[in-house]
Amino acid sequence: MTKVIDITELILRDGHQSLLATRMAMEDMIPACEDIDKAGFWSAECWGGATFDACIRFLNEDPWERLRTFRKLMPNTRLQMLLRGQNLLGYRHYEDTVVDRFVEKAAANGMDVFRVFDALNDIRNIRRAVAAVQRAGKHAQGTICYTVSPLHTITGFVEMAERLLELGCDSICIKDMAALLKPQPAYDLVKAIKQACGEETRVHVHVHATTGVTMVSLMKAIEAGADCVDTSISSLSLGPGHNPTESLMEMLEGTPYSTRVDKKRLLAIKRHFDKIRPRYKEFLSNITGVDTEIFDSQIPGGMISNLESQLKQQKAGDRMKEVLEEVPRVREDAGFPPLVTPSSQIIGTQAVFNVMMGRYKVMTGEFADLMLGYYGETLGRRNRHVVEMANKQTNKQPIDTRPADLLKPEWQELRSAALAVDGCNGSDEDVLTYAMFPGVAPKFFPARAKGPKNLGKDPSSAPAPAPAPAPAAENGKGPVTTTITYDVKLNGHTHKVTVSPA
Ligand code: CO
Repeated sequence: MTKVIDITELILRDGHQSLLATRMAMEDMIPACEDIDKAGFWSAECWGGATFDACIRFLNEDPWERLRTFRKLMPNTRLQMLLRGQNLLGYRHYEDTVVDRFVEKAAANGMDVFRVFDALNDIRNIRRAVAAVQRAGKHAQGTICYTVSPLHTITGFVEMAERLLELGCDSICIKDMAALLKPQPAYDLVKAIKQACGEETRVHVHVHATTGVTMVSLMKAIEAGADCVDTSISSLSLGPGHNPTESLMEMLEGTPYSTRVDKKRLLAIKRHFDKIRPRYKEFLSNITGVDTEIFDSQIPGGMISNLESQLKQQKAGDRMKEVLEEVPRVREDAGFPPLVTPSSQIIGTQAVFNVMMGRYKVMTGEFADLMLGYYGETLGRRNRHVVEMANKQTNKQPIDTRPADLLKPEWQELRSAALAVDGCNGSDEDVLTYAMFPGVAPKFFPARAKGPKNLGKDPSSAPAPAPAPAPAAENGKGPVTTTITYDVKLNGHTHKVTVSPA
């Protein structure tokens, strides 16, 4: 008898986010939905911060409508989303009732599985969202952001899994956004979680393919008892994306494991996206092969390209080496946070500032907040001297409470602000869209009636214009970022510093 290994298919979210800068239009996904629905996947991941952002920023598409369409077209498959805990899909902490409302609305519009994570692995930033998912009667998946540092140990990750289960999570996800999870640690980690939390604890494993070793990591995780692994259909896989779904299925032949996916359906899905992929050539990631330098630098590939463009912007392209050496130091001073949105952007930008202007002479508002505890707790102790500097530069006091405890109820205010925007339809969904993307929603609402745009191009047509910047990728790699303006406080004066990709 073989053990059935479940699969989460990523093509509708992380697959095209990692390889096509999240630009795929809904009409290019719709024809594959029936095959995806009937292929036998445990879930189809289809929604998250970057897809939501890209919908309203580039595709003139209502992300809530996208969710409802997926629900209609895939009645047999769990729909899954990635949720940044107390940040929801945005870049700041939201007050608890906004978190409640978002989860309630996502569930009502068709979401089944909520993979909830926090960039710092601070469980206090995950708690409220998990409670809201439980109240909605949906599947709450507690997430461990996998990272490597002198302080991160199997024991520490297992303790985090135990605490996530105490919150009532239905399963645990090990999320490796930078492809750092090597085979033996994958085995050890899954085994240790199963031993400590019980064999019946569901463990899901999410890895990227960037470093070339993670297909083996998935096999070892399966041997250690993992219940579900994440893959993407082959025609949109590998590089900074994921391991191919078909290969995973074939790999298990002759082992005590099998899947319940239907080979014919997989082939149909693959063929569909084979046809679609060339139309998005201009957005295709230029990292196509393998990058193992990440293991030494700990800096995800796309974070490097992001730093490069920040330096070019400041006419300092030749200082890359210094910045790459500065990143690990800043990360250590910040208490070794995992490098995932938004911590990767915050650490990276501060490293650039340190090289350009002297170490911590100028802090971004975000970095100061990180040092002062406004994003939550890190595993390592933060450098006391840098905390003092952050306090002096901002006049804000360090905190050790849960950051969202400091927020006042904000729903009514968000609602009035959203309703004042031309084109807002007054629904809670629109208020939430506005709450998460207050800079973009006012452009999207009035234009919504014109309908979705398809940025894909017929390969035979004239050369396309240069690509526009992409929304932040989940791992700080890939085509990250929209323009970011930082408030920099220097000698008591506030300066606006704008950082955007070249
Ligand atoms: Co991912």
